[in-house]
Amino acid sequence: MDIIAVAIAIGFVLFLLFLLRDPFSTSSNPNLPPGSFGWPLVGETLQFLALLRANRGQEFYEQRIKLYGGDIFKTHILGSPTAVFYSPQGNRFLFSNENTLVHSTWPSSVINLFRNSLISKVGDEAKDVRKLLLNFLKPEALQTFMGRVDSIISDHVKRFWHGETQIEALSLSKRCLYAVACSLFLTMDEGPQQSDLYGHFIDLLSGMFQIPLDLPGTLYRKSRIGSNHIRGILQTVIEKRREDLESGSASPHQDLLSFLLCNVDGRGNGMSDDEIKDNIMLLLMAGHDTSVTTVTMLLRNLALNRDCYQRVLQEQMEIKREKEASQVGLLQWDDLMKMKYTWRAVQETLRLYPPVGGSWRKAIVDISYDGYTIPKGWKLSWVMRSTHRNAEYFEDPEKFDPSRFDGNGPAPYTFLPFGGGPRMCPGNEFARMVILIFIHNIVKTVEWDLVNVNEKVTINPMPIPVDGLPINLHHHVHTVDN
Ligand code: HEM
Repeated sequence: MDIIAVAIAIGFVLFLLFLLRDPFSTSSNPNLPPGSFGWPLVGETLQFLALLRANRGQEFYEQRIKLYGGDIFKTHILGSPTAVFYSPQGNRFLFSNENTLVHSTWPSSVINLFRNSLISKVGDEAKDVRKLLLNFLKPEALQTFMGRVDSIISDHVKRFWHGETQIEALSLSKRCLYAVACSLFLTMDEGPQQSDLYGHFIDLLSGMFQIPLDLPGTLYRKSRIGSNHIRGILQTVIEKRREDLESGSASPHQDLLSFLLCNVDGRGNGMSDDEIKDNIMLLLMAGHDTSVTTVTMLLRNLALNRDCYQRVLQEQMEIKREKEASQVGLLQWDDLMKMKYTWRAVQETLRLYPPVGGSWRKAIVDISYDGYTIPKGWKLSWVMRSTHRNAEYFEDPEKFDPSRFDGNGPAPYTFLPFGGGPRMCPGNEFARMVILIFIHNIVKTVEWDLVNVNEKVTINPMPIPVDGLPINLHHHVHTVDN
C-alpha cells in the first residue's frame, strides 16, 4: 500500500514538473520573438485580463514593446503561445497571408459554441459561407431593409426616449438594436419568443470568452446551455418558415433566414439546418454588442465634444428637413451617403473605442517574420491599439476629432476597426446602416448631456461606461445654425 502511495506521489510530482516545463523555451528555439511565457499553464493571461478590465489594456502591450524593442513579442495568453504583432507592417503581413501562412482562429470556447458557423471554417469552406452571408449583408440587399430599420428605431425612440427626462443609454440601445436584428434576421417581432431568445442569448454571451470547462456552475456551461436553447428556438422558426415559403406566405427576400434557406453558394450547395442555426446565432452575437457599444460610446463622445455634436446635429436636421419637404418619409440608402460628418464621428469613436480590440490568426506553417521564427500551431494576434492610439499615425491621439478622417483619411493598415484581409468583418455595411439610422433618430428627437461626465469606461470585453451611460434628455428648443 505504502509503495503504491509513494508511486502515486512520484507520479504526481513528475506530472507537475511536466506541466511546469517551458515547452517553448528560447534555448531550443533561438529565433523566437523576444518575450516571456509567464507562469506555467496560465502564462500571462491573468495580467492581460486584469489590465484589460481596468481599461489599461494598452499597458500590457506597451510595456512589452518598450522592454523588448521592435514591433513583435511573444507571450502565452488564453491557453496558447502567441506572437503579438504591433505595427501596420505586422497587420499587413497577417492580412495578406490568409490561407498561405495563417488561418483565422478564435479562442476554443468561441469555436466550440459556434461549431457549425463561419468562424469555425477556413480556406474555401469559409469563402463559400461568407459568400452566402454576403448575399444578405451586401449594400444592394441591405438597401431593401432600410425602411424597416428606420421604422423600428423611430418607433423605439418614440416609446422609450421621447418625453423622458433621464434614461440609461446602454440598456435602451441594446433593446432597440436587438429588436432590429430579430426583425432583419428572423422577422421575429416583440413578444414572448423574442424575450425568450434574448434570455438565452445573454446566457450565451456570459461565458463565451472563458476557459471551456463544461462543468456544473461554470460560465462556459451556462453559455453552452444557452446556445442549445437558441438552436431549439431557431429550429422551430426554420420549420415554420419552410412551410411558409412552400405555401407562398413567406418571401425568399424577407430576412436573413429566408436568404439562407433559398440561396446556394458558387458550387450549388446550400446550408444545412445546423449551419443556418449556428450562423444566425453568430451574426446575432457578432453584430449586437459591437453596434451597441459603438452607439453608446458615440453618444458619450458627442456629449463631451459639443462642437462635434453641433455639426452632427446640423447634418441630421438638414436631412430631416429634406425628408419632410420631399414627403418621402423613411430614410433611404442615399440619405446615409449624406451623413458624412456623422460617419466620421462614428469612425473616430471606433478608433478610440474599438468594440473588438484585435483578433487572432494561427500559423499553419513555420513562419519567418522580421528575422524571427513563429512555429506552426502558434497563435498570432494583431492589436488595434498599436496604431489607433499611436501619435505616429494619429496626431494628438487621445483627442476626439472626427475631422482626421477628412480627405484620404488614415494611412493604410493603421485604422482597422473591422479587421482586414479575406476575414474582414462581413457585417461592416450592416453596422454602418444601423448605427447611422439609430443616431439620426436620436439626434432629430432629443438633445442629451451626461449625468456623470466622469463616468469611467471599462473593457469587458468591449468598452462600456460602467454605469451604462445615464443621460439627461432635453427636447429640442435651440435653433440649428445653417
Ligand atoms: C461596429 C460594429 C462591428 C465591429 C467593430 C466589428 C468588428 C469585427 C472584427 C474586428 C472582426 C474580426 C476581423 C478579422 O479577424 O480580421 C469581425 C468579424 C466578424 N464580424 Fe464584425 N464587427 C461589427 C459588426 C458586425 C455585424 C453587424 C455583423 C453581422 C451582422 C458582424 C459579423 C461578423 C462576422 C460573421 C465575423 C467573422 C468573419 C470571419 O470569420 O470571416 N460584425 N468583426
